[in-house]
Amino acid sequence: MWTANMTTVVTSCLALLLTMFGVNMTAASAPDTNAGDEATIGKQSLLSSNHLSFGVTEILFNISSSTEYLRVQHTQVTVIRQSVLSHLQLLTTLIILENNRLETIGPFAFANFPKLSEIIISGNVALEDIGAFAFSNLPELTDIIITKSRNLRCIHPDAFRNLIKLKYLSISNTGLNSFPDFTKIYSTASGFLFDLHDNSHIMRIPANAFRGLCTQTIREILLTRNGIKEVASDAFNGTKILRLYLRGNKQLTHIHPKAFVGSSGLTELDVSETAISSLPNSILGELQKLIAESSYDFKKLPHPEILPKLRQANLTYPSHCCAFKNIHRNRSRWNSLCSHPKARDDVHFYRDHCSNSTSITCSPLPDEFNPCEDIMSATFLQILIWVISVLTLLGNGVVLLVLLGSRAKLTVPRFLMCHLAFADLCMGVYLVVIATVDVLTRGRYYDYAIDWQRGLGCSAAGFFTVFASELSVFTLTAITLERWHTITYALRLDRKIRLRHACIIMAAGWTFSLITAFLPTVGVSSYSKVSICLPMDVESVESQVYVVSLLLLNILAFFVVCSCYLSIYLTVHNPLSMPAHADTRVAQRMAILIFTDFICMAPISFFAISAALKLPLITVSESKLLLVLFYPINSCSNPFLYAFFTRTFRQDFFILSARFGMFKTRAQIYRTESSSCQQPAWISPKSSHVVLYSLANALSLDAK
Ligand SMILES: *[C@@H]1O[C@H](CO)[C@@H](O)[C@H](O)[C@H]1NC(C)=O
Ligand SMILES: *[C@@H]1O[C@H](CO)[C@@H](O)[C@H](O)[C@H]1NC(C)=O
Ligand SMILES: *[C@@H]1O[C@H](CO)[C@@H](O)[C@H](O)[C@H]1NC(C)=O
Ligand SMILES: *[C@@H]1O[C@H](CO)[C@@H](O)[C@H](O)[C@H]1NC(C)=O
Ligand SMILES: *[C@@H]1O[C@H](CO)[C@@H](O)[C@H](O)[C@H]1NC(C)=O
Repeated sequence: MWTANMTTVVTSCLALLLTMFGVNMTAASAPDTNAGDEATIGKQSLLSSNHLSFGVTEILFNISSSTEYLRVQHTQVTVIRQSVLSHLQLLTTLIILENNRLETIGPFAFANFPKLSEIIISGNVALEDIGAFAFSNLPELTDIIITKSRNLRCIHPDAFRNLIKLKYLSISNTGLNSFPDFTKIYSTASGFLFDLHDNSHIMRIPANAFRGLCTQTIREILLTRNGIKEVASDAFNGTKILRLYLRGNKQLTHIHPKAFVGSSGLTELDVSETAISSLPNSILGELQKLIAESSYDFKKLPHPEILPKLRQANLTYPSHCCAFKNIHRNRSRWNSLCSHPKARDDVHFYRDHCSNSTSITCSPLPDEFNPCEDIMSATFLQILIWVISVLTLLGNGVVLLVLLGSRAKLTVPRFLMCHLAFADLCMGVYLVVIATVDVLTRGRYYDYAIDWQRGLGCSAAGFFTVFASELSVFTLTAITLERWHTITYALRLDRKIRLRHACIIMAAGWTFSLITAFLPTVGVSSYSKVSICLPMDVESVESQVYVVSLLLLNILAFFVVCSCYLSIYLTVHNPLSMPAHADTRVAQRMAILIFTDFICMAPISFFAISAALKLPLITVSESKLLLVLFYPINSCSNPFLYAFFTRTFRQDFFILSARFGMFKTRAQIYRTESSSCQQPAWISPKSSHVVLYSLANALSLDAK
């Protein structure tokens, strides 16, 4: 009864006081108001002061010295000095909340309270510094929370001293510009939790930062979202830590290799959302859980062998999980409870204490775009890609050399052939690059995946291949159209395609190919999605439109080529203009041209369009087969179909080699043949001859 009365009296006195000064007052809620003994007297003391009218000291002195719970909220206090509270020897909880004028917590402000167990200092926006010994000799103190003080720049190095029971220390959302000194706390509490977060001006963890903080194993050190850029050598010297969180220190690039010297016990480390690229090897041996999500610079994972105890990894890149895929660890743990029938029901318990062999839980798991495999997984692909790329490079290289080296007049077909050979040469370069990277990363591609796919190399390779394939398709179409035009208008010299027309057409082709190859480097689709650097990214609508329209254009080109040949065939099929045996040869030749074009185009377009519409019919691994087998077919076969097998090319070739002293007699034959062969065609007035000559030239028929 008496207790209750007393409480009411104190409360109403204070309420009166506050109303008198017209100060905003917030009702305090004590943690355990129902405790009914004497110790609860004054528990709900509320204090407010008008600095202008009365010194804060006077009001504080009027608080009953038996007060245990004190909340200083919304006052006009500017300084809290040692003398102010020192008579409250029974105080257990002290809350300094939202005092907008409070600038300084003076030396010894909260020192020497034998019973004080909790201090919360929050929302004091003007608070700038905390003096020496402010928190010292508090034998019962377990919790300190200092938060939401953006102007708090400085905590005196001696502020925290002899807090032997301290278990929880939290400093957050302050403007502190250096790491405070915690080395004289000497806590002996077990399960210590240290929490320093959202202090954007703390840039460095100095050496011995936690030495003297706690003699026991510190359960958690949370250093999230500070401005930390560097963890110095010996930063964790002399501390035993179980878990360390460095998440969200976006500028953290460097953890000194010796940062963890003299520390032990670290089993869980979180370096998510930081810019670090490697971890000190010394801690990896004990690590059981590694969290590095959104750590985009952490590209190379330590080898699984130096992470012998790792059980869980949450990483940034799916490819990293490949390293852990087939690793099972022997852990001969066998708790006596494991034989209990219910042990298996508790999955976590069973996994941690009973299972002798565990796999490593890793996320994000490799997806279909980033499977755990080398660039060219099957052996026959590894060989085939070399064969095809060398053939492509050689074939097109020779064609280009001969065409450019020839002294013959640059005709439109020859001009177009040059472009075709160049485009196909680019394709060869791309294939060689892919094949080389495959050889260099064999067996551990997942380690290089990020650097390769996001690097310049992959973008360049992707650029080359898209440019090459578009220019090749464009030139092929142009060549076919030119042939068709030549044959259809064989007699109309006024409608002959001249070199300058061809130049304009090819300029358009180059522009188009360059633009299409450039788009994925600026975010429309992307070359970094898959190991073979093709623009397979169709996540956004623009990317989808880009990929689908590219494929549709290729299909369109194919139909243009087909219909041109059909038209040519119909023209020459006319028995009046063509002898029968030539007719079948024309048909054969056309069939080959169309067929190679088709088998190059069709499978890729079909599967690619289905994938672009997000209905993939095959996996990326299978699509590599298409890439190697079908994609370069055109580039590889073009030199043969359009050059080596043609008479004009052979003529050029032998004449060129004759200049270097080879095949002199063959060259002579060609020289005489060509001079005797060309004359009648142009002189003869008979239309059929002209058509025949054009056709022979166009379809590369041998006159023999
Ligand atoms: C404090 O209490 C004393 C008596 O104990 C009284 O004289 C004085 O006016 C009080 N001060 C305030 C500010 O209420
Ligand atoms: C590491 O801590 C030990 C005591 O725990 C001390 O003797 C040693 O000097 C410290 N090392 C450095 C580099 O400060
Ligand atoms: C795991 O234990 C099995 C048998 O208990 C043994 O054959 C194997 O070599 C061990 N593996 C490792 C990595 O220690
Ligand atoms: C694990 O190993 C212990 C001995 O090291 C053995 O007694 C126990 O049966 C094994 N548990 C399983 C699930 O294999
Ligand atoms: C880590 O990944 C696992 C799934 O593998 C998930 O359950 C867990 O929540 C993740 N942990 C963190 C901290 O992201």
